[in-house]
Amino acid sequence: MNDQQLVILLNEMTLEEKIAQLQQLAANFYEGAESGGQITGPMEAMGITDDMIINSGSVLGLSGAEQVIAVQEAHLRKNRLGIPLLMMADIVHGFKTIFPVPLAIGCSWDLERTERSAEIAAKESAVSGVHVTFAPMADLVRDPRWGRVMESTGEDPYLNGLYARAFVRGFQGSDLKGDVNRMAACVKHFAAYGLSEGGRDYNTVDLSERHLREYYLPAYRAALDEGAEMVMTSFNTIEGIPVSGNVKLLRDLLRDEWGFDGVLISDWGAVKELIPHGVAEDEAEAALKTIRAGVDIEMMTACYVHQLPELVASGQVEISLIDEAVLRILQLKERLGLFENPLRGADPVAEREVVFCEEHRTAARELAAKSCVLLKNEQVLPLAPGQRIALIGPFAASGDILGPWSWTGSTEDAVKLDAAMKARAGVGQITVAEGSGIDTFSEELWLEAETAAQAAEVIVLALGERSEMSGEAGSRSDIRLPEAQRELLLRLKALDKPLVVVLFNGRPLDLSGVYDMADAVLEAWFPGSEGGAAITSLLYGDENPSGRLSMSFPVAVGQIPVYYNHFNTGRPLGAPDADARYVSQYLDIPNEPLLPFGYGLSYTTFDYSEPVLSGDKMTGDQPIQISVTITNTGAVAGEEVVQLYIRDISGEVVRPMKELKDFAKISLSPGESRELTFTLTEEQLRYYHSDLSFASDPGKFELFVGPNSRDAKARGFRLELAAVENKRHVL
Ligand code: IFM
Repeated sequence: MNDQQLVILLNEMTLEEKIAQLQQLAANFYEGAESGGQITGPMEAMGITDDMIINSGSVLGLSGAEQVIAVQEAHLRKNRLGIPLLMMADIVHGFKTIFPVPLAIGCSWDLERTERSAEIAAKESAVSGVHVTFAPMADLVRDPRWGRVMESTGEDPYLNGLYARAFVRGFQGSDLKGDVNRMAACVKHFAAYGLSEGGRDYNTVDLSERHLREYYLPAYRAALDEGAEMVMTSFNTIEGIPVSGNVKLLRDLLRDEWGFDGVLISDWGAVKELIPHGVAEDEAEAALKTIRAGVDIEMMTACYVHQLPELVASGQVEISLIDEAVLRILQLKERLGLFENPLRGADPVAEREVVFCEEHRTAARELAAKSCVLLKNEQVLPLAPGQRIALIGPFAASGDILGPWSWTGSTEDAVKLDAAMKARAGVGQITVAEGSGIDTFSEELWLEAETAAQAAEVIVLALGERSEMSGEAGSRSDIRLPEAQRELLLRLKALDKPLVVVLFNGRPLDLSGVYDMADAVLEAWFPGSEGGAAITSLLYGDENPSGRLSMSFPVAVGQIPVYYNHFNTGRPLGAPDADARYVSQYLDIPNEPLLPFGYGLSYTTFDYSEPVLSGDKMTGDQPIQISVTITNTGAVAGEEVVQLYIRDISGEVVRPMKELKDFAKISLSPGESRELTFTLTEEQLRYYHSDLSFASDPGKFELFVGPNSRDAKARGFRLELAAVENKRHVL
C-alpha cells in the first residue's frame, strides 16, 4: 500500500479503532497465544475490552511460528478492516541461539561479528514470527551498580554508536520489506536511562543539555542514522519531566530537530507512570501529556484507550495527533510488508531448520570467544594438555550463563563449562566440584572441592552472579562476588596451587579479594549458548583472548562512577605542583579504576613503536596522519586492538582527559609487524560548546596511541583554523 492508500485506510477507521492501534498488549491477551514473553511490569486488570483487543495494533512478547500464525489469523478474522498485528519482542542478544550479553559484545571490538549476531537473531526471530525487536539498547553506562549495564555496549559514546549501527544493520538489513528474514529495530531507551541516580533502576536522571548531547545522545542518533525504525522512551525523568511526557526531548529534539518520523513506543507502563512520578493527577492527564509529547504506542497500561476518546471529544487532544500516530504505525506495518503478507517470515518448517542450527551456534561460539577479556595472567594460562584440573565453583556446571533477556534461550541447551572442558581435555583430566552455592557456603560442598583441588595441578574456579543479579531491576549496592564465593576462593588459595578464576557476570565487578588472589582471571561475562566451548578454547590456548574492556572496572564501589573520559578537575592528583592533601582524591583508594577502558591481555605481547605524525599542525582541510608499527613480540599469533585517543588541551568548555576517536583490531603472527595509519580530521575534534554549537577549538591537542586508555603513547599537535573556518558548526 502506498501512503495515499494508508491514508484512505486511516480515514475508514473509527476513533476507537484508531486509538486501539496505539495500544500494545502482552501476548496472553490474544486468542491463540499459549505462552508470552518476559513480564517486566504490572499485569493489572486494565479494563481491556474485547473490542480493544480486536482493534489493537501490536503484541508484546509473542513468538513461535505456529502460535504467531494462529494469533494473526484469528485477529484478521475479527478485525473489521483487516489490519494485521505487529509482533514485537525483546530479542536483545539472540533469539534461541544466545550470543554474549551486549556488554560482552562491546568488549569484542568486532563490528562484523556484532552485525552477524544481530542478523542471526533476526533470522531466528523472523521465522518464529517476530517483526520488531526492542534493541539495540544504546544507553551509555558508567555505573556498574545498575543491573542494565549488561545490555549496553559500554561507557564510550563513539564506540556505542558504532555498535548501535552494527546491530541495526544486522537486524534490519537493507530491504526490510523484501527480506522477510530481518526485523525492524527499536532503539532504546531514549534518553540517558543509563544515568539513573545511584545506579538504582528506574531512578531520576538529571544532566545539562550539553552533557546529554555530548555523551548520551550520540549512540541513539547513530542507530537512527542507520535507519532504526522505532524508538522506545526511557523510564527516567530529565530536567524533572518523565521522558514519556517530555515535549522538549521527544517532540522538539527527536521529531523536529532530528526528523525522526518512525514509531515511538513507551516502555512498559511508562505512560501511566507519569502519575507516581508526580506530573499527572490521573490517567487522563498522563495520556494527554504523552500523546502531546509524541508517544505513539502505549505499552501495557491502558491510559490511551480509556482516556483519548474523551480527550478528543472535549477538544483537549486534536484528532490530528491521533491520526499522525496511527499513520506511523500503519506505515511501519507497510514497510514490513504485513498488509500483503501478514504472516511475513513465520514458518514452522523453516523454524525447525534455522533456529539454534549449527551455523548459528558456531557464530555464537566465535563471538563469545572474542568477547571474553583476560584480566590477569601470571603465567598460568593457557592450560597445558595433560594437566590435571580441578574445575570448581557454582558456575562449573551451570547452564545459567545466557544472561538476562534470553527468554527464548534454553539454559538446558547451553554448553556448560564442565562438559566443554572434559571434551577438550580427555577422560579423567577434569574433576568437577561445586564448592559453594552462589550465595550460600556449605562445608559439605567445600570438602568435596578441597579433595578435588588437592589432587589437581591447577584449579579453575568458575564464579559469578546468577543472571537475575543483573539486568532490568537488577541493581546492586555491593558489586563484589557474594561472600560465599569469596570464602571458597580464600580457602582454595590456601592450598597454594595455581588458581585461575573464570567470571560469569553482567557488570564490571569490584574484584577485591579476587583479582589480587588469583593467578589468572578470565572475564567471560554471560557468554551465551556456546559459552562453555568458547571459554574452554581460550583456557587451552586454542584461541588467544582478544577482548578489551568497554567499561572500566572500579577498585571499589566508592569510586563509582569511574570512567576513562572524565575531566581533570582544577586540582588533579599527580600534578607537579599539587599539594599533598588538597587535591581531588580519595584518602583510602586510588582515583584510577582497577582496570581501565580498552584493557585486556593476550597470550602474546605487542610492541608499539613511537607514533609518527604527518605534521604537527592540522587545519580544516588538512588532517593529520598518525602511523604506528605494532609487532607481535610473543610466541603465538594474537589479535590486538590498537586504540587512538585525543585530548583537547584548551576547550571552550572542559574536555575529557581522553576521547576514543578510532581503533583497529589486527591479527599478527609471532614476530610479525604491521604499520597502521590513522587519519584524524578537524571534524573529529568538534564537540558541543556552551551555546550547543558543534565546533572545534583551534589550539593545542594531544593524541595517544596504545593498547588501552591508560597505557598509550602521546604526541602533540595544533589545530589551526583560518578565521572563516573558525565558526560554530551546528549539528
Ligand atoms: O523492552 C523492554 C524494556 O527494555 C524494559 N521494559 C520492558 C520492555 C518490553 O519488554
